[in-house]
Amino acid sequence: MSYSQFTTDEHGHSLPRAITTDTITMHAPAVADISLVAELMGVPAEAERPAEIIATWQEHWDEHGYGTLVIRDVEGDAVGFVGLRAHAQFIRLTLRTVETAGSRALEARALRLATAYAIEWLPDLPVRMRIAPEDAATRSTLESAGMVHVTDLDHTTDEGDWQVLELPYVRVAQRIPSRAREAMLAMWVEVNDAGGAVGFLPGASAQEVAPVLDGYATRTEAGETACVSLNSPVGDLLGFGFVVGSTGQLTRHGATFERIMTDPARRGTNHGALLMAGLHRAARERDVELVTLDYRGGTGLGEFYTRYGYAEVGRVPGALRVAADDDRDGVIMARSL
Ligand SMILES: CC(C)(COP(=O)(O)OP(=O)(O)OC[C@H]1O[C@@H](n2cnc3c(N)ncnc32)[C@H](O)[C@@H]1OP(=O)(O)O)[C@@H](O)C(=O)NCCC(=O)NCCS
Repeated sequence: MSYSQFTTDEHGHSLPRAITTDTITMHAPAVADISLVAELMGVPAEAERPAEIIATWQEHWDEHGYGTLVIRDVEGDAVGFVGLRAHAQFIRLTLRTVETAGSRALEARALRLATAYAIEWLPDLPVRMRIAPEDAATRSTLESAGMVHVTDLDHTTDEGDWQVLELPYVRVAQRIPSRAREAMLAMWVEVNDAGGAVGFLPGASAQEVAPVLDGYATRTEAGETACVSLNSPVGDLLGFGFVVGSTGQLTRHGATFERIMTDPARRGTNHGALLMAGLHRAARERDVELVTLDYRGGTGLGEFYTRYGYAEVGRVPGALRVAADDDRDGVIMARSL
């Protein structure tokens, strides 16, 4: 997955206008996309309304530096869009695709990409989508992108009842309060027990993990490290990781990501992607230009990080002894931001 076609918004922030993956691409709308809108509306491409809609989308991009993303399939055909529209207190998501056998899977993929894009690049506002209560298919697509039903936001309009789902948000802490510390410690122990490669083996106790977590807390308070957490809109901790800055005179533009983990009970719901997006945003805000990280060989994690632009730059054979007869490589990956 990669971002391209960068422009600068009204606040001087750089924002990409395109997302490219092996399977689909998403990009800011162009006049040629009138035919997609016409197809979705079931009207001729020459009708006035599709052209007006594209013009409105383009105005939104011009004003805010982001907006609706047109989805293209692997053949390059425009097959739908993810709307991202600025409201005063939040960003509204919408999703439409041309109905085909594979359109549900395509919508899910597009939404996972668009939500990670929102966390990494868009203004720090809640991202919400509303659905009709009976629309179970869309609800499941939104949940697979990590979105959560926030019952307090449900409402009724002239068109009927709406349920509102919201995207988890990222918090970058300079201090780890005690309640957050407890939740992080509990998650770290669970992640170890589930076989996660974050410095321990299954069965490590909270007493063993706590000093390592507290070391990060101390370095976070000292400003050397940023603690990046992914949180559910209803308050649960979903994942976390650390951006560890470099203090060397010649290496200050670099940082290392450490202890990246998500709640084992909710894997596969885009939280890893959202957390990586939050780590990249936090690192960029700290003027980091180069990120390194390492992982335990034999875990498949190289594939996970490759998705987010990392490449293997080194490998220390047998660096990690996970059992008497099981040495694993320490693998180092890097990417520029
Ligand atoms: C690695 C980790 C953070 C990924 O989080 P997650 O919540 O499972 O990630 P997502 O649901 O966002 O998955 C993103 C994509 O990566 C893929 N993926 C996730 N974990 C993977 C792994 N270990 N190997 C290969 N691919 C992986 C998913 O299949 C998904 O692909 P899709 O979008 O095509 O469906 C999580 O598995 C974890 O906490 N692992 C234990 C701790 C750990 O080992 N951390 C690494 C320290 S270096």
